[in-house]
Amino acid sequence: MTDIVIQAANLSKAYRLGVANNSFPTLRDALASKRRGLRGEADTSHRKGADEPFWALKNVSFEVHAGEVLAVIGPNGAGKSTILKILANIVEPTSGRATIHGRLGALLEVGTGFHAELTGRENIYLNGAILGMRRIEINSKLDEIVDFSGVEPFLDTPVKRYSSGMYLRLAFAIAAHVNPDILVVDEVLAVGDATFQKKCIAKAASIAGTGRTVLIVSHQMPVLQRLCTRAILIDGGTIQADGPTQDVVRDYLQTLEARAGTDLSVRSTRTGRGRLRVVGIEVFNEMGPVASGQPATFRLQVDGPRETLQCLVTIIDDLGDPVTSFDSREHSLHDRHGEVYTVHVDSLMLRPGRYRIDVALVADDRVVEDHVETAAVFDVMPGLLDDRPVSAQPGFGNVSFPHRWVVRK
Ligand SMILES: Nc1ncnc2c1ncn2[C@@H]1O[C@H](COP(=O)(O)OP(=O)(O)OP(=O)(O)O)[C@@H](O)[C@H]1O
Ligand SMILES: [Mg+2]
Repeated sequence: MTDIVIQAANLSKAYRLGVANNSFPTLRDALASKRRGLRGEADTSHRKGADEPFWALKNVSFEVHAGEVLAVIGPNGAGKSTILKILANIVEPTSGRATIHGRLGALLEVGTGFHAELTGRENIYLNGAILGMRRIEINSKLDEIVDFSGVEPFLDTPVKRYSSGMYLRLAFAIAAHVNPDILVVDEVLAVGDATFQKKCIAKAASIAGTGRTVLIVSHQMPVLQRLCTRAILIDGGTIQADGPTQDVVRDYLQTLEARAGTDLSVRSTRTGRGRLRVVGIEVFNEMGPVASGQPATFRLQVDGPRETLQCLVTIIDDLGDPVTSFDSREHSLHDRHGEVYTVHVDSLMLRPGRYRIDVALVADDRVVEDHVETAAVFDVMPGLLDDRPVSAQPGFGNVSFPHRWVVRK
């Protein structure tokens, strides 16, 4: 078929530790290495010596048809960004080949494709060239790009002096103005502020709406389920699933659930500064099983220096949509520097089903200390709420609250 716009054939990528892989030292590298450090040993423990290659991708093959809106999902370090960078021609595959038909615009991780020593203006030309624009075309769009990015006063400043927000705005401005046939968007979505995220999503949606091809990497399942018809699940550098978004997301969430089985105190898939960590979560009902309409207790064990802290517990349904959250800051706690945080619920308003818990600890200086996705999984059994039986009703919402019906003639 001729409508294939991306053909990835047996892509493999080996990184060699101790060897500079990236000739562009950027903020992104700093962030990435910081993140890797925060993730604990998981990313490095399997890398023995500096000479031993680490395979970030192994034999990845897939095709994308024109007009498809494809989600690429998977846990931290799975290889998602590596795939996009290969497609955007920023990273060379060690073996295999990616063939692109059409102009590809990319919104990648902060700073990817930016040369730290070059100015904003020079980077626009560099990026424009990477995205397949001719110089004359870039000239004609320069003002628009600069306007949109809002970095005009710093246009002739080396981008190494830019804040991450400026990097993002400039990168987005470039990608938004090249009218790509194919748009690839990495998790910049998670880095920017809410307005920026909305702008990115709206841009991706509008490009998808005009029949062009979009590839999106994100950890935000609800966004992906709204935008994408197809998803690829990647884990450990290989494709684990490829199919309709709903099915692949369900597979992925099951993988996450399986991971929730590991002891929280040794979980490495987490982010944050790390001085304080959640080391245990229990969900229970002292009177019996956790059930709709019954009391429930959420208990978190925190390890680290005793200091005042904000604790945020988000309950997520089996489709990955947040249902509700408990924020300790919204309650006047007498003692905010204990080790055990407990949320008491008198009557659990969740319908029966399986739920996940994401948890975050935020220090007084507003730095996230610990953020664990799918820190725990719990099941809610059918129960009585306000003397009425509550059952699972797929498609009718996850919450049931006490209510009365009145019918009059
Ligand atoms: N320049 C590099 N040098 C060495 N290792 C690298 C480099 N870039 C990426 N890696 C490693 O390759 C693996 C895949 O990285 P990649 O950035 O593609 O993951 P990802 O799926 O995008 O993860 P995340 O969800 O955290 O963004 C990770 O283990 C990462 O640490
Ligand atoms: Mg990534």
